[in-house]
Amino acid sequence: MNKVIIGTNWKMHKSIAEAKTYTAELNEFFEGFSDDIELFIIPPFTALAPVKEILDTSSILVGAQNMHWEDEGAYTGEISPVHLEELGIDLIELGHSERRQYYNENDGDLNKKVKAALNHNLRPLICIGELMEHKRNGITEEILSIQLKTILKQIEFESAKDIIIAYEPRWAIGVSGVSPEPFYVQRIHQFIREQLIQLYPSIGYEIPILYGGSVNTENAIPLLNLDHVNGLFIGRAAWNIDSFKEILFDV
Ligand code: G3P
Repeated sequence: MNKVIIGTNWKMHKSIAEAKTYTAELNEFFEGFSDDIELFIIPPFTALAPVKEILDTSSILVGAQNMHWEDEGAYTGEISPVHLEELGIDLIELGHSERRQYYNENDGDLNKKVKAALNHNLRPLICIGELMEHKRNGITEEILSIQLKTILKQIEFESAKDIIIAYEPRWAIGVSGVSPEPFYVQRIHQFIREQLIQLYPSIGYEIPILYGGSVNTENAIPLLNLDHVNGLFIGRAAWNIDSFKEILFDV
């Protein structure tokens, strides 16, 4: 694994104008860093096309926050992998905690979405993570193992080499003041790595595992220095371009 992978999910934030300004500034800043970092941004759907246009010749990857698994059909309000492929989107974020919490997204659906993404040249960024209740009951590993095995069911290793896993403890996302202990993140990333090797003996060691959940300018580098943390998936701390630049500058 060569480059560190760092990216941000904007969730339901930023107008098209704000997205364009942010992207242009990030693109200019990133030119000096592109040898060390694989960078991605995940804007809301309305900003995908303008952002992609700005990044036309850039190495910064652009992702979408969700999609349906069918190519087309009577699914009002949904976006299909074909739509995203047409826009030249690189990544698809799947299984974010907020999608699971508010839209009942489950691991079975995610398995279909991963397969659809791989069929349409979209690199799946698969979010997994436990609730605080799971952590308290000591069943984090069990939960993560079920999530991984269900989401990756029948995904062969030739395709699995394109996936990215984001470990996002659900209790650490979007909550001010909750920073996971480094030893805990280390232990869980080690566990995820072992699971990936078990599922894909030949390539499990190379699948990137990102950490996400209350990453900020203070804890970004210590987290990145942990074993099997191959990158960061950042929310709030990257919505402000200056604080995102600060994190990238320190890497
Ligand atoms: O997708 C990344 C996100 O869920 C993390 O959010 O604000 O806790 O960094 P945040």
